[in-house]
Amino acid sequence: METPAFNSEIHVKGWVRTRRGSKRVAFIHLNDGSTIHNLQIVADIEQFGEEMMKKISTGACIAVTGKLVESMGKGQRMEILAEQILIYGEADPEKYPLQKKGHSMEFLREIAHLRPRTNTFGAIFRIRHALAFAIHKYFNHHGFIYLHTPIITGSDAEGAGEMFRVSILDPKDPPLNDTGEVDFHEDFFGKETKLTVSGQLEGELGALALSEIYTFGPTFRAENSNTPRHLAEFWMIEPEMAFYDIDDNMDLAEDFLKYLISYAIEHHADDLAFLEKMYDPELMERLRFILDNPFVRTTYTKAITVLEQSGIKFEFPVKWGSDLQAEHERYLVEKHYKKPVILTDYPMDIKAFYMKQNNDGKTVRAMDVLFPRIGEIIGGSQREEDYDKLYNRIKILNIPEKDLWWYLETRQFGTAPHSGFGLGFERLVQFVTGMANIRDVIPFPRTPKNAEF
Ligand code: 4AD
Ligand code: MG
Repeated sequence: METPAFNSEIHVKGWVRTRRGSKRVAFIHLNDGSTIHNLQIVADIEQFGEEMMKKISTGACIAVTGKLVESMGKGQRMEILAEQILIYGEADPEKYPLQKKGHSMEFLREIAHLRPRTNTFGAIFRIRHALAFAIHKYFNHHGFIYLHTPIITGSDAEGAGEMFRVSILDPKDPPLNDTGEVDFHEDFFGKETKLTVSGQLEGELGALALSEIYTFGPTFRAENSNTPRHLAEFWMIEPEMAFYDIDDNMDLAEDFLKYLISYAIEHHADDLAFLEKMYDPELMERLRFILDNPFVRTTYTKAITVLEQSGIKFEFPVKWGSDLQAEHERYLVEKHYKKPVILTDYPMDIKAFYMKQNNDGKTVRAMDVLFPRIGEIIGGSQREEDYDKLYNRIKILNIPEKDLWWYLETRQFGTAPHSGFGLGFERLVQFVTGMANIRDVIPFPRTPKNAEF
């Protein structure tokens, strides 16, 4: 928005961050959440009266009409000389939890209903918005179709983790079948349903019709992982592309991540500067590290050798065939390659059934993108397009065919090579804002034993 001209009459609304001043004038710092910068309001105390001034305390919501003038004071270019002030809502200084500055992130999590009013969360949520917008912008520009995949799903075939059940049955007295198990035929959908862990399988149906699609929606995992990188409810971006092989998939992932980070730097420099100053002196350096380096592309097997030869004693021992932990991923990125890393060709047994099988009979065409601090930010693969190979894998893993007949049909009718990946949105926001804990980049985090707001 354009700044109005000096000496014009303007009208602003917002929340008071601080009020300082002398006996004669009050300096009120007002913020409406649109930027990290406060607007200074200068009010003549005699004109408005001591009584009213007292009510304009930190946290109060006010509307001000006045003249915009060049500021003679330090720290701001302009200010408003107040002519009228309307108080929408007071905030009792004795009770308002954000009366003082410098609260811990843990405390702020307990007041998630108020924390967006802090400079920190204002900056984080503006950046989160910008990244969400940039994601749509990027895909739209590249001709991808935004496909809405379902939140409630009847298949739990992805195998990405434990799922939350969706049911209207009475938990105290559910209908039972002959064998004494809960009879989901009587449930809302006539079958057992869950909250989705990923939109990928439906995304693939879309790609095998529309060529290039993406989903961007909430996903749910009922794992009991209390880590700074896991949420029970998180948002995921999942592009899925017909005719892409794993190399095309890696090219897209790298270009996409670089675009998103550049977008944040270009549009939210002030918010990033604030976060860098307050929390993370290496923030911008880390963002540039992604932009300035081509991502290293190597295999899981080579990474295992690197880790084995590192001489480091990891908390989780390294062995070909076991999943990499964040500590291993971070070692590869931060210490060994010193570049963002994409690992491919993971052991078949630790990856999902749908990944394209390599000829060695042991590995699949998976790809994980690893970032400093975060570890895995993207997980994806080329997909198995061969009906027989896919069918055999499903049988070996004992996945019920009745849950996946529709998925299998896409390999019977006009199958095509295709690939895709999932970017964890909060992990991206975490990386861009430098926040140490994923709970601080989503307005209302859902984690084990925590769904208050
Ligand atoms: O590696 P994941 O489990 O992959 C899938 O779900 C595939 N279906 C994606 C695809 O190929 N379309 O999850 C993808 C990404 C991870 O790399 C991580 O960034 C994020 O989602 N993620 C989580 N983020 C926050 N909390 C959790 N519990 C997460 N689990 C995964
Ligand atoms: Mg993964």
